[in-house]
Amino acid sequence: MTTAATAVHNAPLPGAQAAPAAAARQVTKAYGAGETRVTALDSVDVDIQSGRFTAIMGPSGSGKSTLMHCLAGLDTVSSGRIWIGDTEITGLKDRQLTRLRRDKIGFIFQAFNLLPTLNALENITLPMDIAGRKPDRAWLDQVVATVGLADRLKHRPTQLSGGQQQRVAVARALAARPEIIFGDEPTGNLDSRSGAEVLTFLRRSVDELGQTIVMVTHDPVAASYADRVLFLADGVIVDEMHAPTADSVLERMRRFDGKRTS
Ligand SMILES: Nc1ncnc2c1ncn2[C@@H]1O[C@H](COP(=O)(O)OP(=O)(O)O)[C@@H](O)[C@H]1O
Ligand SMILES: [Mg+2]
Repeated sequence: MTTAATAVHNAPLPGAQAAPAAAARQVTKAYGAGETRVTALDSVDVDIQSGRFTAIMGPSGSGKSTLMHCLAGLDTVSSGRIWIGDTEITGLKDRQLTRLRRDKIGFIFQAFNLLPTLNALENITLPMDIAGRKPDRAWLDQVVATVGLADRLKHRPTQLSGGQQQRVAVARALAARPEIIFGDEPTGNLDSRSGAEVLTFLRRSVDELGQTIVMVTHDPVAASYADRVLFLADGVIVDEMHAPTADSVLERMRRFDGKRTS
């Protein structure tokens, strides 16, 4: 998969010519048919670099969640092709896709989705327990330390703050060493302090553990933790920004508001 787009979008990583962690080519997604047909994604091309933190931003309804769901194999595309690493996922059978999601992808959602009867550690290792895989103890310790949960492992979700619960969900996503983690508004239910906590740990998992993260958000502060921000409007990637700040992202978002007078 070497295209002009790859060359443009992949910032030079020292010594690395690796395939992107995820890629989309000419991806279109439409919902409904006839008069109620909505084109949520319109011929999207994108490369997600490995070991980087990418944010997807755009006005409400611009297709952020749809793009994330298609990239993560949670939703099918109407046309176009998607790769996770060097595996093309468009066209995979359900069972293959389920296995690929389990083995290669981590998810963090707005709702923490923790099991109330399990403690933090049990929640973190649950997906691996279900898959019958033994957690790598050294890695698990490192993940737990990175997300700052070492003294909270025996606590149940109800004994943890919202920020701590989402950190458990982040640790759960990291624990299986997925090739890529997708988050849809992972700080959407958190106050700004807890949100900052979670974003700091996402950032650290990229810097210290080499994790690849794609996060959908509508919050310029959240986006400023990323290395790169993709801006979606009406199902099209209309812009991108490297080394974003909350101010530069806010400024860019304001231009969408200016255009959308309806
Ligand atoms: N399941 C669905 N059925 C019909 N339309 C949908 C569905 N999901 C999303 N859409 C439409 O697709 C467009 C993009 O939605 P979405 O990806 O959720 O946007 P965002 O996450 O940026 O708010 C919107 O117009 C939305 O109404
Ligand atoms: Mg959304």
